Amino acid sequence: MSQLQTLTITRPDDWHLHLRDGDALTDTVAWTAAQFSRAIVMPNLRPPVASTAQALAYRERILAARPAGSAFEPLMTLYLTDTTPPAEIERARASGAVHAVKLYPSGATTNSDSGVTDLARVYPVFEAMQQQGMPLLIHGEVTDPEVDVFDREAVFIERHLLRIRRDFPALKIVLEHITTAQAASFVREQAAVDARGAPLLAATITAHHLLYSRNAMFAGGVRPHYYCLPVLKRERHRQALLDAATGGDARFFLGTDSAPHARALKEAACGCAGCLTAPHALELYAQAFEQRGALHRLEAFASHFGADFYCLPRNTGTLALERVPMAVPECLPYAGGDVVPLGAGQILPWRLASAF
Ligand code: DOR
Ligand code: ZN
Repeated sequence: MSQLQTLTITRPDDWHLHLRDGDALTDTVAWTAAQFSRAIVMPNLRPPVASTAQALAYRERILAARPAGSAFEPLMTLYLTDTTPPAEIERARASGAVHAVKLYPSGATTNSDSGVTDLARVYPVFEAMQQQGMPLLIHGEVTDPEVDVFDREAVFIERHLLRIRRDFPALKIVLEHITTAQAASFVREQAAVDARGAPLLAATITAHHLLYSRNAMFAGGVRPHYYCLPVLKRERHRQALLDAATGGDARFFLGTDSAPHARALKEAACGCAGCLTAPHALELYAQAFEQRGALHRLEAFASHFGADFYCLPRNTGTLALERVPMAVPECLPYAGGDVVPLGAGQILPWRLASAF
């Protein structure tokens, strides 16, 4: 059988992205705008993007950083804190620019110290979100130091997510960057849909969790550029994620969680969590889907299911990939310094041909 040489899909969106702020925006916005039409922008800045006013100001800074002629559209999120007023949800909804609220359990990851310390404190906010149809995006890891770092996602589902789902049955939820077979199963078991027929529970999946197991972090030595949170898991979990992503199930869609940290902050005694994948995101996802002979399923995962979940129109443009080997750069300029992308120095089988 002759191999597919080009793959043209509806232009994709990134449903989980870290753009950072300040000088970094010129680089991060250019990387993402080259591939994606829209992106859900994470609010874990310092200070966090906790109000609608802050989200609107951040949105302006992102728009100002777009390359000339780019129509890239940032979809803003709010950072949930113990003191978020329920009335903020109405303001967020009315702005038309805020599309979701992000729950970071306090201490779970980068810039999460303003996150939620006790879910009971934010129940009035969940109530308002359920009423307004505002999605809750969850970093699903417990922070209990007694729980093994590799078990934190599965334990979060048991201890917290089941209860949130039970107490707010009509709340739209995205379990972000899932990493385990347990998370994929949990999402599959939830069949409920909203009034518009969209799923009430979905999950994003990163390219790095589809391509790498935890072995990649320890191949011949410690490899800080493969360290992210939730941390990479065993091979059998990676296989479960590939099943989910390539299975044609509308509850699983693309979210890169591209999260750049300057090289010096990764290559350190206490390196930051995060993998940079935005500059070659679709190339990585194509490589993963091809492992399953499922390139024909990439378009729905990357370009349809996320928009459908958020009740936004699908994009009209296209993106083309071609089967031409591409070397991932060893490093890229970033905010006056440099950053090492995921898979630096490796050859990927697909490269971006064009995006319109
Ligand atoms: O690896 C990660 N990096 N996981 C997160 O949850 C946050 C992110 C970041 O902002 O660097
Ligand atoms: Zn993230």
